Amino acid sequence: MTERYGQQALEHALQTKRLGRPLHFYAETDSTNARIAALAAAGAAEGALAVAELQTAGRGRRGRAWQAPAGTGIWMSLLLRPAIPPTQAPLLTLLAGLAVTAAIRGETGLSPQIKWPNDILLDGKKLVGILTEMDGDMDAVRAVTLGIGINVNTEAFPPELADTATSLLLAGGRAYDRAALLARVLAEFEARYDVFLTAGFAPFLAEYRADCMTIGAEVWVIGREYWAGTALDITPEGELLVRRADTGAEEVVFSGEVSIRGKE
Ligand code: BTN
Repeated sequence: MTERYGQQALEHALQTKRLGRPLHFYAETDSTNARIAALAAAGAAEGALAVAELQTAGRGRRGRAWQAPAGTGIWMSLLLRPAIPPTQAPLLTLLAGLAVTAAIRGETGLSPQIKWPNDILLDGKKLVGILTEMDGDMDAVRAVTLGIGINVNTEAFPPELADTATSLLLAGGRAYDRAALLARVLAEFEARYDVFLTAGFAPFLAEYRADCMTIGAEVWVIGREYWAGTALDITPEGELLVRRADTGAEEVVFSGEVSIRGKE
């Protein structure tokens, strides 16, 4: 398959009204999240999108690096300026997880699952990472950079990732068109974002429950302490409700790492 993936091909593929406009394509950049943060600081409007063929300093969560070589994946960041309190910003990550999962299902027929809050896995291995970065103060969100990395046509990962990472090509046995998938991700996100802005996350709870492998699983919660429990549900605020194995008490987990027992 000769794939067309660049400024023109992407603009041609886009189906969205507001998101992905304007689109900035970089043959190479440090990090698309850094590009969007700079555009946001310069006053860019909601919807601006940065897409890179290659990132030289791709950022992951918790200060980790994100491998983003050329020709293999979708490395994209979207600028949002939602009128929501900063406490609700993490919900955008969950919303993006739903949109990416739906887009992959629709474009490939594969069935990825969300590991709360925002990893997307296929066959138990990481397929997608989402990094949401916010600029704002206590009362208001100024800008949110929603960074999404999808391993699409990666044929092999470096040894340190080979056991834990996968790509659509490895799982589906064929290459996929990145421009079509990227356009689908934006379309799925725009539809959900418009509902979210007026109605919050509640309309998406059923979809999140259906797509999230963490709910119902035996988990380890790694926060100030390390404890075991059963993940019961997701709250309308996007937190995970977990029943502790030791006391039986139900606790709401806001952040921190949750790993699924037996799969870590
Ligand atoms: C994670 O650690 O799971 C999050 C990874 C996020 C990677 C994407 S790739 C596009 C965007 N630009 C970055 O530097 N990071 C995000």
